[in-house]
Amino acid sequence: MYRTHTNGELRIENVGEQTTLSGWVQKARNLGGMTFVDLRDRYGITQLVFDMDTNKELCEKARKLGREFVIQATGKISERSNKNKNIPTGDIEIIVNELNILNSSDVPPFTIEDESDGGEEIRMKYRYLDLRRNPIRNALFLRSKMALEVRKYLDGMNFIETETPVLIKSTPEGARDFVVPSRMHQGQFYALPQSPQVFKQLLMISGFDRYYQIVKCFRDEDFRADRQPEFTQIDCEMAFIDQEDILKMFEGLAKYMFKTFKNIDFTEAFQRMSYQEAMERYGNDKPDLRFDMAISELTGLVQNKGFQVFDSVEYVGAISAPNCSEYTRKQIDALTDFVKKPQIGATGLVFVRYNADGTFKSSVDKFYSQEDLKMWAEKLNAKAGDLILVLAGSKKKTLTGLSELRLEMGSILGLRDKNKFSALWVVDFPLLDWDEESQRFHAMHHPFTSPKPEDLHLIDSNPAAIRANAYDFVINGNEIGGGSIRIHDNELQQKMFKLLGFTPEEANNQFGFLMNAFKYGAPPHGGVAFGFDRWVALFQGTDSIRDVIAFPKNNAGRDVMIDSPSVLADDQLKELSLKVL
Ligand code: AMO
Repeated sequence: MYRTHTNGELRIENVGEQTTLSGWVQKARNLGGMTFVDLRDRYGITQLVFDMDTNKELCEKARKLGREFVIQATGKISERSNKNKNIPTGDIEIIVNELNILNSSDVPPFTIEDESDGGEEIRMKYRYLDLRRNPIRNALFLRSKMALEVRKYLDGMNFIETETPVLIKSTPEGARDFVVPSRMHQGQFYALPQSPQVFKQLLMISGFDRYYQIVKCFRDEDFRADRQPEFTQIDCEMAFIDQEDILKMFEGLAKYMFKTFKNIDFTEAFQRMSYQEAMERYGNDKPDLRFDMAISELTGLVQNKGFQVFDSVEYVGAISAPNCSEYTRKQIDALTDFVKKPQIGATGLVFVRYNADGTFKSSVDKFYSQEDLKMWAEKLNAKAGDLILVLAGSKKKTLTGLSELRLEMGSILGLRDKNKFSALWVVDFPLLDWDEESQRFHAMHHPFTSPKPEDLHLIDSNPAAIRANAYDFVINGNEIGGGSIRIHDNELQQKMFKLLGFTPEEANNQFGFLMNAFKYGAPPHGGVAFGFDRWVALFQGTDSIRDVIAFPKNNAGRDVMIDSPSVLADDQLKELSLKVL
């Protein structure tokens, strides 16, 4: 028996009992004739005491213990004279009479403390040591509990968890596929699923009615803090439903999760906002609604007053930052530098101080009167004391710039509190997205998404204007989930493939199996998938999903611990009939 208790378990009530504990040496301190060892395991830390006077040999053995040695100690639980209020076991200590060194340890490359001295790269290389640290471990415990509660909720709603294959054929979700060469079928490749999309639709055709799966998905795309090449979805699908049914069901799941993990009761229905409104008012399709500071278009108000910069552009828009009218020149310059960053690419920033006395002072006073500026302020619902920030340029780029500026101001003003949550559905996404580079339409969500029936008549005349039965779930400016009602009619699906530029042969090659399945009684169906890593990160209050994944890739897509990706041996390549160019 290695232990009778864990290191997080013993309390003052246990004083006088014998115990055997096992764990890692967090640290050892020698004070006079005493040696104190903090013994750590998953459950906590318990102090061990060795006394030179009573047991010299044992104490000398303890003095040889290094950080992260694995030991077993037996002794008597005793009340501490110097109590540690910071840990639950801080009232007691163990007077050790038997010490067993189970394993030694090299000196770890960084400190195994909540605030480690190790940088990200070294912690990733030794991730198994990083995982010994509380903040990382707690995040993974939260992840485990969240998965369990998701399962409980969906099971209670009659969903069936069904595994789907990982070695498949391309599933178009807008990213590149990771591919796996087949040895048995030389020259042929499997693709890893970007999501189980087609399989969950097939399960609806099979009559499963309600499916879910907590599942790994793979996408070869550029990295961001909220993206990993392999990530986890809570993937769901339902039959005989419309969009309203889906939104209600998964709003229920979200509220259950908020209640369980954050003790927040969302009594009202989550807000719904059209894609168009999100883009016009917040400059992106995942607005952070913890604060307002919405964008207003000023184009009509500001043009033809002699200011060439505004006259020559497609769009002028602004936000009004509350209580910032007294920003210094330096603070405004910093905001100007922010919008001039290559990622935003604005040529400049116009500002208007809406002074406390109701007057205006702007960087364009030469062109605009107090009355003009008052009209801008009215359009923005600005108040005395606000600072109005204006960007101009092409509509798309300027809205993106305003979106970034809004988020930046939200952060500066402390309006993006991690303990405050604002959830909404963004609905009515466009069905198609025109891609300038390839000069063709792409599916905004994926090719199986159904158009809104009332927009169907536009399919030949103005496909870009067709809206889809597609929705995203957004929390605090993060896209946490997305889904759609699917096309379940073979003819419409074929039409959709044609719109997306597939020849009938290509469509048949790639999706023949699905279109064939549609011939055998496909029920109306739809679903949603949540980015599980993102949701956990949000509840954990961390900015990067790496913090909630046990063994993540770094931001160059590498696993620096196992050193992957890596080259294949010649033999392996030969066996697969592959040659690296
Ligand atoms: P979608 O592509 O919107 O939809 O993905 C669903 C959710 O998955 C998360 N997500 C990611 N998380 C981490 N790293 C990534 N690389 C990554 N990519 C996506 C996001 C996103 O909202 N099959 C459809 C769902 C459906 O139609 O039912 C799908 O995959 O949180």
